[in-house]
Formats: sequence, structure tokens, C-alpha cells
Amino acid sequence: MRWDRSSARRARLEVFAVEDTTVQLTWAALPAGSLEATVGGRTVRADVDGGPGSLVLDDLAPASDHRIVVRAGDLTAEVNAATLAPPPGPPRCRVATVGDLHLAGRSFGARGSVVERPRAAEAPSVRCARAALAEAVAWGAELVVVKGDVTHRGRSYQWRVAAELLAEVPVPVVVLAGNHDRGLYRSTEPWLAGVELGLRVVRGVEAVDLPGVRVVLADTSVPGRSRGRISHRDEAVVALAAAAPSALVVLHHQLELRPELPLWPPGVPRGEADRFLDALADAQPAALVTSGHTHRHRRRSHGRVAVTTVGSTKDYPGVWGGYAVHDGGIRQVVRRVADPDCLRWTELTRRGVAHQWGRLSPGTLGDRCFTQPWPVSV
Ligand SMILES: [Fe+2]
Repeated sequence: MRWDRSSARRARLEVFAVEDTTVQLTWAALPAGSLEATVGGRTVRADVDGGPGSLVLDDLAPASDHRIVVRAGDLTAEVNAATLAPPPGPPRCRVATVGDLHLAGRSFGARGSVVERPRAAEAPSVRCARAALAEAVAWGAELVVVKGDVTHRGRSYQWRVAAELLAEVPVPVVVLAGNHDRGLYRSTEPWLAGVELGLRVVRGVEAVDLPGVRVVLADTSVPGRSRGRISHRDEAVVALAAAAPSALVVLHHQLELRPELPLWPPGVPRGEADRFLDALADAQPAALVTSGHTHRHRRRSHGRVAVTTVGSTKDYPGVWGGYAVHDGGIRQVVRRVADPDCLRWTELTRRGVAHQWGRLSPGTLGDRCFTQPWPVSV
């Protein structure tokens, strides 16, 4: 069969993520059986079950264009992928983020319209979070930051689910609260749950130093509100960031930029967001700020500072974020959670938000995966 337009639309075979030496291919449906991906004379094989899947090709040449030929059943397709240049200087460390876990929620979309049928014993949010954490650690994360909306409603039992999942992670974990953790239905405060359950939950502003970078974490949540704030934290964040070789600043709420559609959910209002970013760019231009909250993927620059939002573990596309720190810069990668069970769920959630979620969330490949060299003057 030829790879015509309708087969391509059905399969949605795409390059979802790139690094300097890897490419993640994902698809919505390919003929069941075996898949072959050939790149640069090397062929990688994988089993395909007829549903959504993912394949990571590694050991590719950096900063190069790669032509990948994919064969599955009687279909043959070609995709092109450009690997990133690594940041300048030797690699120093790797950090991963997972966000908007919404444990132990079972539905997605306006009025919870997307649900799993038949209902599995364990909620999809929990299965996706567990797989995301395992895949991020396998990628090489030395620290995992959970960047808010850990729980769906801030209930004590949801924090217990979080603690059980995070106890399985073999590297240090730091947790930020999100608006869902501090919403009107909460039965505890995140830091109280943290003390009780042995989680490191950030209260105010904290930092973790790793080789080559300081990870600065700020709680932007406001009790009972969806919107976030940073004006009461910005001096502390900027001071911590400025006193390090470089800074990865992690927040729950996005720093708003208007006009930007859609406007829901509200993040940190643009006025205070800009004041914070101005101060950070002055004091520490070797910085990347990343947030969650919108469950969408976007990237922009504020002066010399890179600003990103990265999506949720449990709704389309269903991701975790990786940060490879070098002496001369940082590389962000956003990978889809590759576990087939999770991909089946996250593919289902594309139907959310009046069937628009599949279009609203992913952003572009360049929003998700890029290399940011630190400014030369640093
Ligand atoms: Fe969220």
C-alpha cells in the first residue's frame, strides 16, 4: 500500500522529540506486527500492536539532518529529523521535570468528558505519572522536580498516592505545589502532607545545587485561586539564581504574555511576570525558566532568558521534560510518555476541549526541544 495522505493522517507518524543524538518517533496507529526504522544504514526493529507507539532512535550524529524510513506492515513512510547541536562545553548534569500529574484523577476535558472504558483499577493519571518518572530516570535524570498539580484536588489520600509513587524514584525528588493542590477542595496543605509523608515540598523559594547549575524552585500558588503570583518571591529567586553559574528556574504557573490565546488558565499576570523576568535577565542571563499549569507547550525568550511551558504527564501528548546542562548552555527535551498503556490513554484525551486538545497542547517541535547556549558574556 502506498503511504498516501489518508494513511498518513490515520497513522500520525511524527518526530515528537529530538536531542543532539536521539529522535523520538511516535504514532497513533500502525499495522500490527513488526516495525523497522532505518536511518543512516542502521535498522531498528520494534513490535507494533496496532495502536499508538513510540520508538527512540539513538547514537545519531548531532546537528544533522536525518532521513528515517519507517516500514510497518505494507506501509512505508519517510520522515525527516534534524538533531540539535549540543550546548557548548562538557556535559555537567541532567534534571527532569514532571508536571500536572493530577493524581488520582480519572477524567479529562470540560466536565470530565473523557473517561477510560472499561475503568481500570488504577487511575490513568497514576499509571502515566509512574511511567513518566521511570522513563525520566532511565534517560539519566539526577534530580526530578514535580512542578505542581501533583494532586487533582489536594486530598490527603491523593498525597498518599503521590508519596507512594515518588518513593519508587531512585534519585532525589523536589515537589512544588500547584493551584489544584491548593484549591477549595483540599483537605491538607502540600507542605503538611510533605512532612507527614516524607516528601520535600517547597514552601516559598528553595534551591538545589547540581554540577554546573542551580535549580531554583518557587511556590507560585495562591490558596483557592487558579491564578499564580511571583512578586512576593522574585527577589529571593533572582538572588539565588544570580549567585550560581547558571539557573534552571522551575515554577508551576506560566508567566503570562499577552496577547496569547487561549487565555485559560490564568497564570502569573504579565506585569509582575515581566518585572520578574527583567530582574532575572539582568542578574543572571544564563537562565531558563520553565512552568506548567497550561498543560501546553510553548517557548519564548525574554531578553536572553529562555521561557517555556511543558505539558502534563496524563493528557495529550502526555510528557516529561529533560534538561541536559553543559558548561556553556542547556538543552531541553520533551518526550512523550512511551509506555503503550499510557499512550492509549493520552491519545484518547485528544478528544478533550471539544476535540481541540490535540491541536492546542503540543506546540511546535521547536517549542519543546531546543538548545540554549548561555550568553557569551557570562
Ligand atoms: Fe494542571
